Amino acid sequence: MAKHNFIGIGLVAITVIASLSWGHIKHPTISSITKTVDVTNVVSGQEVKLSFKESYSTTDPNSIWVIANKKLALPNGFAPSDLVVPNVILRLENTSEQMQVRLVIKADLEAMFAAAKKEGHSLMLSSGYRSVAYQKSLYDGYVATQGLASADRSSARPGHSEHQTGLAFDVEPSDKRCELLQCFGDTPEGIWLAKHSSEYGFIIRYGKDQEQLTGYEYEPWHLRYVGKNLASELVNTKKTLEQYFDLEPASKY
Ligand code: DAL
Ligand code: ZN
Repeated sequence: MAKHNFIGIGLVAITVIASLSWGHIKHPTISSITKTVDVTNVVSGQEVKLSFKESYSTTDPNSIWVIANKKLALPNGFAPSDLVVPNVILRLENTSEQMQVRLVIKADLEAMFAAAKKEGHSLMLSSGYRSVAYQKSLYDGYVATQGLASADRSSARPGHSEHQTGLAFDVEPSDKRCELLQCFGDTPEGIWLAKHSSEYGFIIRYGKDQEQLTGYEYEPWHLRYVGKNLASELVNTKKTLEQYFDLEPASKY
């Protein structure tokens, strides 16, 4: 705790009740999670009292805490049933599959884009929901052009992408500077997102120097919705989703 800028007490109880298998993938079911956090967080000399008590499934593909990674696949053929097009600048036509996200993240996504705009950062939705079929064509294309090892560092295999949940999306500046490049993290837009996205419930899912934990190279453009409480908790503790839920690192399939 101390090394993460915390002083105080953190009371954490995680109950892992059962285990479930999805096809050939062994997937732990965390059916009851209670985290009660009572910490004094010192930020810029200010004391902020945090409290957080929330519980969602990490295995239900419709849950905002669902974990999809190289070790944990989504259920075969999963597609969300509440996809909508957010009211933000879109990279593609609004009829494109990829310009959709789940309804549950729409308001926070729009609020984040609006707040960024107010501070002079014009963001564009680059890629949101992807069907398993589209993810397959994307991944197969990377394998064909870059080879398997390189493709696996940047693109999820079909069934393993957070984009398939409708809870994740890629973002870029509307003038396309550093489009899907790591230099995006050093642009004013990328810096703003790293600092503020958790206020809207999003995390930068594939952080710098976290490839051994997440399985992917640094992707400062890939945002994942987990809700405001967990997003700020992950930022404050500097943990990946896998670390937070005591899951094994997802560096390999
Ligand atoms: N680029 C991320 C890892 C995906 O393909 O889902
Ligand atoms: Zn992405």
